Amino acid sequence: MKILKLGLIGHPVEHSLSPWIHTQFMEQAGVEGEYKLYPIEPDVFDEKITALLQSGIDGFNITVPYKQRIIPFLDELDTDASKIGAVNTAVRKNGKWIGYNTDGSGYVRALEQVIPSQGSLHVLMLGAGGAARGIYRALVANGFRYVDIANRTVSKAEQLLQIQEPETITEILSYEEAQQKLDSYDIIIHTSSVGMSPCDREQIIPLANLKSNAVVSDIVYKPIETMLLRSAKQQGATIHHGHSMLLYQAQYAFEIWSGEQVVIGELLNQLEQRLT
Ligand code: ATR
Repeated sequence: MKILKLGLIGHPVEHSLSPWIHTQFMEQAGVEGEYKLYPIEPDVFDEKITALLQSGIDGFNITVPYKQRIIPFLDELDTDASKIGAVNTAVRKNGKWIGYNTDGSGYVRALEQVIPSQGSLHVLMLGAGGAARGIYRALVANGFRYVDIANRTVSKAEQLLQIQEPETITEILSYEEAQQKLDSYDIIIHTSSVGMSPCDREQIIPLANLKSNAVVSDIVYKPIETMLLRSAKQQGATIHHGHSMLLYQAQYAFEIWSGEQVVIGELLNQLEQRLT
């Protein structure tokens, strides 16, 4: 039986939960394999990545700070990875290395566990960095038509407009403007690092006048329940935790590597326990 050789490159990668997640998937799918960590120092990236690509490995994940730097070493990019301009999953297919981005699609899969994708819903994204780029692309690729973006640096939010679909309607806002019209959004997605431990008493914007039945989602997962989510919960909103994105982006990567469908189920609770 073939052993699937997988891993993760990045700097640092030592505390990654991906080996645990993919080991669970391999057990569930009855796939024999390994998922190793490959810490790479920036000054030796080119040599190390060239050696890894030729090492017989079947696929790997790419994390900070190499999601863009990996691109010239790959043979092809799938459409989303190419539009996002970042790769978090590479697979060897028929001798060619192909790059994917499963972060945004994984995020939308995770969000769909609390609210199905519907073009008519009004979405507000807070933040416009690398994570936001993947999430915005996945939202519009999954048929969300109304997706506004607020960011501290408004010009950075404007850059995301290059990856919208023809039918997408996106307004770029300051945080003050977003606050004023919070009650017009069905889904609010926080994508910046504000509120992440140890600065976990910070919140990107105060939440007031949320629409009834609003969903508030935070991609920060340390702590699991951020100030933003606590504040949303107090107002009766449905909240969506960031750690689910970790599992769903990994689920999509595992499908790409193995061709196997795996379910998340109990893994969500188990991951939560590992993070608390
Ligand atoms: P990532 O890849 O994690 O998204 P990034 O590309 O560095 O990281 O983007 C960070 C995001 O968090 C940006 O939206 C950034 O806002 P700016 O574009 O204005 O820099 C946002 N961010 C980080 N620290 C912030 C802070 N203290 N207040 C408001 N926004 C902040």
